Amino acid sequence: MNCTSLSTDSLSFVCALVRGRSAMELAPDKAYLIESRLAAVAKKNGFANNEELVHGVRGSPRSDLVRHVVEAMTINETSFFRDMHPFEALRKTIIPELRARRSDRRQLNIWSAACSSGQELYSIAMLLREYFPDLLGWELNLLGTDLSREVVYRAQRGRFSQIEVNRGLPAPLLLKYFERAGVHWDIVPEVRRMVRFQELNLIDNWTGMPSMDVVLLRNVLIYFSGETKKRILARVRRLMTPHTVLFLGGAETPSNVDPSLEQVQANNSIFYRLNRSS
Ligand SMILES: C[S@@+](CC[C@H](N)C(=O)[O-])C[C@H]1O[C@@H](n2cnc3c(N)ncnc32)[C@H](O)[C@@H]1O
Repeated sequence: MNCTSLSTDSLSFVCALVRGRSAMELAPDKAYLIESRLAAVAKKNGFANNEELVHGVRGSPRSDLVRHVVEAMTINETSFFRDMHPFEALRKTIIPELRARRSDRRQLNIWSAACSSGQELYSIAMLLREYFPDLLGWELNLLGTDLSREVVYRAQRGRFSQIEVNRGLPAPLLLKYFERAGVHWDIVPEVRRMVRFQELNLIDNWTGMPSMDVVLLRNVLIYFSGETKKRILARVRRLMTPHTVLFLGGAETPSNVDPSLEQVQANNSIFYRLNRSS
């Protein structure tokens, strides 16, 4: 396949398209990466090269092709129990506190925003089963959302490769909560039934979202401009009560962006709560 370099104009068009549809800021020095991802979309959709693909996208701005191009630019890196410490904090501090606070209502709402293929939310579901079996009688709303239809579909399916289950998942949990499916591993139905995945673009309107007890918004704000981070955090804040816990990725901080969130440290993890004085 001929993957010739895109013209500067086409490259700028793709960057603007992706920014407009997802808020992701593609670094101009990553042209090679953009081109190689476009090449895969071009090949799959029968275009001779990237320039023709861009031509096709320009000609049908509402088509599925646009979605394919935007989704191809997402970085879906994730793993089970990623960074470990947030899950320690959930197990040792946050869930026990929420269990005490919510015992009258017997309901927990947990949102993994930008969940990629779902490992983060499945990790929480397994953690609840392992350490808080009493909560299985509660109304547990474990919601995972992502912009990318492809990863949402993968998350819903709950099928993982050997490489994926080798990353971060303790062997006893693999044996207990997964079933072999040829070269893959399927999450068992009891765990899959605990979670729900759907498409959601963080820059779109998400009306109707209930208030949350835990929000995980990890490793996605890094792709956005300061202004977009600020807007998204302001909307996440509206779903937070004084006891809600917000996790961001290790490289992300709301300081200078949102002073109404205060940092809390527990179990070697950092998370955020509403600033009581705000
Ligand atoms: C690096 S993954 C992070 C996955 C997971 N949160 C974690 O930390 O392991 C980033 C995810 O953000 C999603 N994403 C990018 N822009 C988005 C947007 N505007 N709305 C929702 N999800 C978005 C991508 O599709 C990708 O799956």
